[in-house]
Amino acid sequence: MNTLFLDIRNPLQNTDAVNTAAAFLRAGEVVAMPTETVYGLAANAFDSTAVHKIFAAKGRPQDNPLIVHVAYVQELFDLAAHVPTAALRLAEKFWPGPLTIILPKKDRVPDAVSGGLSTVAVRMPSHPSANALIRAAGVPLAAPSANISGFPSPTDVRHVMDDMDGRIAAVCDGGNCEFGVESTVLTLATDIPRLLRPGSVTLEQLREVLGEVQVDDAVLHPLQAGQTASSPGMKYRHYAPLAKITVVKGTAQDFYKFLAKNSKKGDLALCFEEDVPHISLDCVTFGQADDPFSQTHRLFDALRELDEKKAKTVWARDPASDGVGLAVCNRLYRAAGFCFVHNTLTVGITGITGAGKSTLTKLFAQKGFAVVDADAIARSVTEKGSPVLAQLAEVFGEDILLPDGTLDRRKLGARAFADAESTQKLNNITHPAILERIRTAVLDLQKDGKNAVLDVPLLFETGLNELCDHTVYITADHGIRMARLQSRDGLSAQEIEKRMQARFDEAYFTERSDFVLVNNGKDGLDALFEELFAKITAELTEKP
Ligand code: TXA
Ligand code: MG
Repeated sequence: MNTLFLDIRNPLQNTDAVNTAAAFLRAGEVVAMPTETVYGLAANAFDSTAVHKIFAAKGRPQDNPLIVHVAYVQELFDLAAHVPTAALRLAEKFWPGPLTIILPKKDRVPDAVSGGLSTVAVRMPSHPSANALIRAAGVPLAAPSANISGFPSPTDVRHVMDDMDGRIAAVCDGGNCEFGVESTVLTLATDIPRLLRPGSVTLEQLREVLGEVQVDDAVLHPLQAGQTASSPGMKYRHYAPLAKITVVKGTAQDFYKFLAKNSKKGDLALCFEEDVPHISLDCVTFGQADDPFSQTHRLFDALRELDEKKAKTVWARDPASDGVGLAVCNRLYRAAGFCFVHNTLTVGITGITGAGKSTLTKLFAQKGFAVVDADAIARSVTEKGSPVLAQLAEVFGEDILLPDGTLDRRKLGARAFADAESTQKLNNITHPAILERIRTAVLDLQKDGKNAVLDVPLLFETGLNELCDHTVYITADHGIRMARLQSRDGLSAQEIEKRMQARFDEAYFTERSDFVLVNNGKDGLDALFEELFAKITAELTEKP
């Protein structure tokens, strides 16, 4: 099909173009029209055959109903079986404008428009070109967003041409869309009015007019298995660019730190303009952090830009969710398929024997930090049936296995620590597996949004410090450690000296650690810990 391009940016001057488009509509054809929210794919709402053409052009599922666009409030009475005063109050306040009202439908509204539901969605757009077109057509226009189903809604005529050229009779150019996200959808067909889709008319504004307004669960959450969508559009993956988008929950600082730690070369950041200087990745921006209107205006463009850049992995800033921000979150979260990560705190602790490393780890655990204990993991890699254990048996003799298949640690110890070469062999077999397990454990916790504390004797030597946001070295004076170890482990002074000699010098640790705790006090670690904890968590903020 040859698609006619019509300029109706100034409808009063371009009356010929408006009339041409209106004639197509009256003849049962589909025409793309600008609105103040996004471009729509319009057809005569009372003509089922014409409406079916919209579904075909978009590849839209038949059960997803369309919004009917009108030019006068009175047209509500042609479409709705009953018009409550609440609808008229809303129309008075917000029409023409980006609010769609759902009401019980009249029989004359075809099933194709309502997706088989008993209700109809109506809105009066404020875009002068849309208004002129509806008036010239002389019929209400059913119109979904003018994108191929599942792709971001078009906010510029160029996007409409990208998606629709050759599929419909005409595309009308009305300039760039003012709001950039689709209208607010509110149903009055429920006992209590319910927000089905947030938009530029905010929940707060609706509550001012109506009092109680419920927010449909699907606004910020994925549908659970078996749950039916109040608005059929909510059940489809929507607003989806081809890239895999993950929203990083939390503040700007959380976002920057997360990216510094977790992003790879070639990843993209979907962020606010003021974030750009703080990020080393290629950035696609969607407005300014404190201006949700700038975000709605830019978001769909930004999503399309990701595709143009052939982005694969995208990390997105989490917008504020109040006011118009609710619409931004709703669209972004859906584009991300509700995939979130949290920036977390990972603290690595290392320390000299007897300085209080285990106690410090416990104090972090009491604050809700998950503990990754290198010693416990080291033991676990030689568990019964593990590949590491099989390798050890091959090198150190099958008889290091007990009859039940578990490791005889004493026997292995005797052989592996007999000389330096054997110790090296032991380490070559076990260390890679231990490191891998620690690494996986830490990354899993970070993915789950959990703060973690790593108790790792060889934190710097193994490079595990790289996974940590902060490293802590805990130490104490020689005499104090001696006394602690003697009373704790019942070791002789000589045995303790021997253990301690195996360590690097202090400077190695103090130079590398972010924090050095000198635990010489008699009153325990509590005060030192609280001070440390306050510093470490200063930037960590929770968002609901
Ligand atoms: O701003 C907008 O609303 C744009 C412009 C073109 O007007 N239109 C738009 O249409 O976004 P569409 O089809 O992309 O989204 C309409 C949404 C869908 O989620 C649909 O399921 C829902 O409104 N909807 C339509 N009629 C409904 C009904 N009777 N009951 C429940 N949800 C309905
Ligand atoms: Mg749509």
